[in-house]
Amino acid sequence: MDKFVINGGRRLSGRVRISGAKNATLALMPMVLLAPGVFRLHNTPNIRDVWSMSRLLGEMGAHCELNGNELFLDSSNITSHEAPYEQVKKMRASINVLGPLVARYGEAKVSLPGGDAFGPRPVDLHLKGLEKLGAEITLENGYIHAKSSGLQGAKIHFDISSVGATENVLSAAVLAKGSTLLTNAAIEPEVTALARLLVKMGAKINGIGTNTIEIEGVKELHPVEEENIPDRIEAATFLIAAAMTRGKVIVENVNQYHLTAVIAKLEEAGCTIDITGNSITLEMDDAPRPIDITTAIYPGFPTDTQAQWIAFMMLAKGSSRITDSIFHSRFHHVPELQRLGAKIEMVSNSAIVHGGAHLSGATVMSGDIRASASLILGALIAEGRSDILRVYHLDRGYEAIEKKLAGLGASIERVKTDEY
Ligand code: UD1
Repeated sequence: MDKFVINGGRRLSGRVRISGAKNATLALMPMVLLAPGVFRLHNTPNIRDVWSMSRLLGEMGAHCELNGNELFLDSSNITSHEAPYEQVKKMRASINVLGPLVARYGEAKVSLPGGDAFGPRPVDLHLKGLEKLGAEITLENGYIHAKSSGLQGAKIHFDISSVGATENVLSAAVLAKGSTLLTNAAIEPEVTALARLLVKMGAKINGIGTNTIEIEGVKELHPVEEENIPDRIEAATFLIAAAMTRGKVIVENVNQYHLTAVIAKLEEAGCTIDITGNSITLEMDDAPRPIDITTAIYPGFPTDTQAQWIAFMMLAKGSSRITDSIFHSRFHHVPELQRLGAKIEMVSNSAIVHGGAHLSGATVMSGDIRASASLILGALIAEGRSDILRVYHLDRGYEAIEKKLAGLGASIERVKTDEY
């Protein structure tokens, strides 16, 4: 088990290169189940979740190899159509194999993911959508069993805009007979990246990037090579880190259009931002103004940056209200940030952060990726030493975060530990 030891108080400066998007990679990888052959995904982040997805696809018979940031996948010999509990409990995105499996092989057995650190996370919309396409779904012994003798296009309206449900249903509909219309579909950049990959593979999709997606099913798809999009959440995390340490950091390899809500809020908080091509320079030389945020579906402020924003607002000259409207109980980081000295009150699904409290180092830990990132941010500005436990959460989603932060001047070290 590893932990990070951070000594707070260092100003960050320099350049940092953002990796490929975790959530896009996890959406793209299962698409190899839709067509036999060799795929190559460039700009793949070298993170635990990619290893987990590789292992899952490997158990199904695919060969996956990550060389640097190029992922090679060979799906010529798929022999199993099952995603076991052992894999799904480690990573919910394992459910992304459901749509492709039932569409191409007519059967899938995928463990139900259950709840997690965000609270209850149902998959009813995934299942309803696939049922509309004609899949026969049963739930037994904690598993989703899906069967089909040939999916049929349908009109599907999502009651809630869901990234995962849109991805699963879209990736099944591409091989369904006839046309499918998805309304209130998610428009997150990762969904768009998936739709673009599918088109490259031979799928017929209209309305990409909008919440109304039309799909005309095709008989078969072919393997492709694709470049992954940059990770907008990693980029947001580094921008906030720069702002918190009153630093000047150039965040490279980003797509500014994926970050408009975050950039707008950083500017409101008092950060100076300059965008050139695919680089964003952030400079900050004061405490931030208190800025309220409410998370929303894209292009709103991402729930995956809520925890980092709370950390930022610990420094504000006043109080701010941070509301999560997507995952109402996604606040496990709050008690840990309080251990660093933060003054935060919870009111329903809002955190009221009273800025300006004295922050001092402590041992802290968290149960999810972005919450753990917020603890790193807190530790970067707390006085003295902090130990961040359960680093494996960070390793799931951030490529070499300690190396990137150290490269910007942070005092951070990965240390082996028995603490859990
Ligand atoms: C994805 C991202 C996650 C991000 C989230 C919201 C991946 C691997 N994960 O998660 O990092 O925080 O989008 O941007 O891409 N819902 C239902 N029924 C369903 C599905 C979802 O009620 O069947 C609800 C959820 O509880 C939540 C909302 O819909 O309140 C949105 O969740 P969703 O977009 O599905 O999130 P994920 O795809 O799980």
